[in-house]
Amino acid sequence: MMSVNSKIVYNIQTYSGTDHDNICRYFATHDDGRQNPDDSFYIFDLGELTNLYSLYNSLLPRVKPFYAVKSAAYDPLLSALMELGSGFYCGSQKELNQVKKLGVKPEKVMVSNPCKQISHLKTAKEHGVSLLVFDNEHELRKLKNFYPTSRLLLRIFIEEDGEEKVYSSKYGATISEARKLMLMAKELDMNVVGVNFHIGVGTADESGRYQQSLTDAKKLFDFSERNGVPLKVLNIGGGLRANNSNLRQTISSINFTLERLFPTSKYPDLEIISEPGGFFSETSFTLATNVIGKREFKGTETPHHYYLNEGTFGAFLSLYALPRELKYFFMSESIEKRSTANSKLWGPVMTCIDKVIDNIILPELEIGDWIFWRNMGVYSFACSTRFCGFGTKSFYNVISNNDLLIFQQLQQKKKLSRFSFEEWTPNEESENVLKS
Ligand SMILES: Cc1ncc(COP(=O)(O)O)c(C=O)c1O
Repeated sequence: MMSVNSKIVYNIQTYSGTDHDNICRYFATHDDGRQNPDDSFYIFDLGELTNLYSLYNSLLPRVKPFYAVKSAAYDPLLSALMELGSGFYCGSQKELNQVKKLGVKPEKVMVSNPCKQISHLKTAKEHGVSLLVFDNEHELRKLKNFYPTSRLLLRIFIEEDGEEKVYSSKYGATISEARKLMLMAKELDMNVVGVNFHIGVGTADESGRYQQSLTDAKKLFDFSERNGVPLKVLNIGGGLRANNSNLRQTISSINFTLERLFPTSKYPDLEIISEPGGFFSETSFTLATNVIGKREFKGTETPHHYYLNEGTFGAFLSLYALPRELKYFFMSESIEKRSTANSKLWGPVMTCIDKVIDNIILPELEIGDWIFWRNMGVYSFACSTRFCGFGTKSFYNVISNNDLLIFQQLQQKKKLSRFSFEEWTPNEESENVLKS
């Protein structure tokens, strides 16, 4: 990163081809900017982000995304989304300050945390960010005291099957509570402008939850209209993943239900917004980890144990809350061809809790080998701790030449762009590593 005319500029390496695997391998052997050559690092692919942004807008043409900053609060990603036209959903003072520093306009920011620390609320007010979420009487009175001119979205309860209430036990008003809150807000002269919900991620029946939540939202729109306060904003939250096999089905169900309940003819000025996090961040990052240790347990079911420099206190922490299939690749084809064995992957921290994968079939690895993990942007570095002094903050930014053209076409305010592009050409030495 460098500063030009007191403006932050992000350097992006451009590459030819369709994937960034070789450029990941290149950075593994060139420690540009890393403290140590064997430190873990992330590759941010601006091209992947650009394609996801354009996909999102084409799939949900009525919906304006407000990126969930908490999912991956990486400045170049935030700046790129800003230049592509996205809004931002912040949960804290730090996130509010971060997007402000990057130059995001206050009308493109909302605070979606239903229970806000008073000082954070004051920061939102100072920044002119007025769209805020609440879901209970105490928060409403707090808002009346500290930000009476705010515009409010009322978060509603999500119907969850099963015993474990992941989302609804913490946030969201039931329909009857929401009706009372709307009347109370009217009495307090507070400006409720809409409704929001978040269905959560990885639920078995995404479409069903969207339909149910949209139906509940519509009941509140009707109730509010009957009480003389027509609502203008509908926020459908986050939870979608670009690589989910159900994506298209869920999207058509959302679009169909939106048109059925909120037809454009009846709601021409309705502002429909959303809070995607993982949709943009998950596949935009690849994580490179180094094998820092190895133990052998011959004759057991898991003969190879490898120790990585990222673990469950670091980049893999979110796997506890959001288990998902991990995809990876290696430095060269010759590693793929080595004999395979059942293996266990440990993180670097000296506790047995720091275990990444219990059982995985891998080619035999040596100390110093790299494992590159795909789709590691979502709640990865965002959730990383610094426990025991481990964890990385090293990033490299890349984009393919084809995607660069798309980014430049979609980019708004090109003249003020924060991005500078530099062609990456592998030198002879790295070519040899890749071929080995
Ligand atoms: C209220 C709210 N909106 C949006 C998101 C983003 O969700 P995702 O990253 O699954 O899109 C979250 C994440 O937990 C959330 O709590």
